[in-house]
Amino acid sequence: MSVLVKITIITSGCFIAINSKPVFTTALPQQTKASSFLPYDLFGAINTLKKELNAVVLAHYYQDPDIQDVADYLGDSLGLSQQAASTSADVIVFAGVHFMAETAKILNPDKLVLLPDLDAGCSLADSCPPEEFAKFKAAYPDHLVVSYINCSAEIKAMSDIICTSSNAVRIVNQIPEDQPIIFAPDRNLGRYVMEQTGRDLLLWQGSCIVHETFSEKKIIQLKIEHPEAEVIAHPECEPPVLRHASYIGSTTALLKYAQTSPASTFIVATEPGIIHQMQKQTPNKRFIPAPAMNNCACNECPYMRLNTLEKLYLAMKNRQPEITMPEHIRVAALRPIERMLEMSV
Ligand code: 13P
Ligand code: SF4
Repeated sequence: MSVLVKITIITSGCFIAINSKPVFTTALPQQTKASSFLPYDLFGAINTLKKELNAVVLAHYYQDPDIQDVADYLGDSLGLSQQAASTSADVIVFAGVHFMAETAKILNPDKLVLLPDLDAGCSLADSCPPEEFAKFKAAYPDHLVVSYINCSAEIKAMSDIICTSSNAVRIVNQIPEDQPIIFAPDRNLGRYVMEQTGRDLLLWQGSCIVHETFSEKKIIQLKIEHPEAEVIAHPECEPPVLRHASYIGSTTALLKYAQTSPASTFIVATEPGIIHQMQKQTPNKRFIPAPAMNNCACNECPYMRLNTLEKLYLAMKNRQPEITMPEHIRVAALRPIERMLEMSV
């Protein structure tokens, strides 16, 4: 039987003890009437709730290690969308950021989709405001719109095809060569797709604060200190970082590459949350997070890290915060996501 701890909420947060370890937990303003009791055995309690709710926990590799360990499925954006499209669970608990949970809801209007912290947004999605994008799109009526999944439901609703970092090249290659294309919102992924396909894409100038933070100078320094190391990078990084990479790919692709490459040491230019899986899969290899330009932890995604195991438990216990959206936006956003899924098999 689980033992309950009563949390005393002090303005913006409080300290509690979980398994004798003091843990800081922020107050959830949207859950004022909801339960804020935490059991000692959070893993056990989450597993019990999974059965009670017929819930599945989908998590991205950038989540905290304990969230990754409690997840039923871990993946990159494409894998997570494919899981969301095929799950038979009644409740989807999405341990990732808002656009990912929103995609799960677009695919599953009748299921309850929970996000542990509704403020878990994305700087890249925010860099493409729907009103401005609508004007941009209207200026190029003959263009097809291919949007990276890291965008809001409103942007998806204005798009023809969605893509992720793992299928962007494959999707653009399937579009007739004489068809002009707008690519939004990530200019770095767009530039990378242009190089890989030889296509001229009209790029929306959005970017991710995390992937633009890596320091080329510090990566070069690390390569001098570890000449045996391979740099592996996410395509959201800027060209000065990508040019040092032995391999560029989505989070799942980076994970597979690290497993199969004969190299023993890797400098990892993406959010360091993924190193938990890399280390689990290949404990004898060494993974060095690519450093940020300033002496900060800015290579950690501040949005992904808003989710905690405690908030994940409370979301399941209280059946909130829930993802919702206007039905006309959901219906318009569904078609380009379905096209992506069809074009990715
Ligand atoms: P992946 O689809 O490669 O997991 O990327 C998601 C993301 O948000 C990268 O910043
Ligand atoms: Fe968005 Fe960047 Fe965080 Fe990915 S790492 S969720 S693109 S802010």
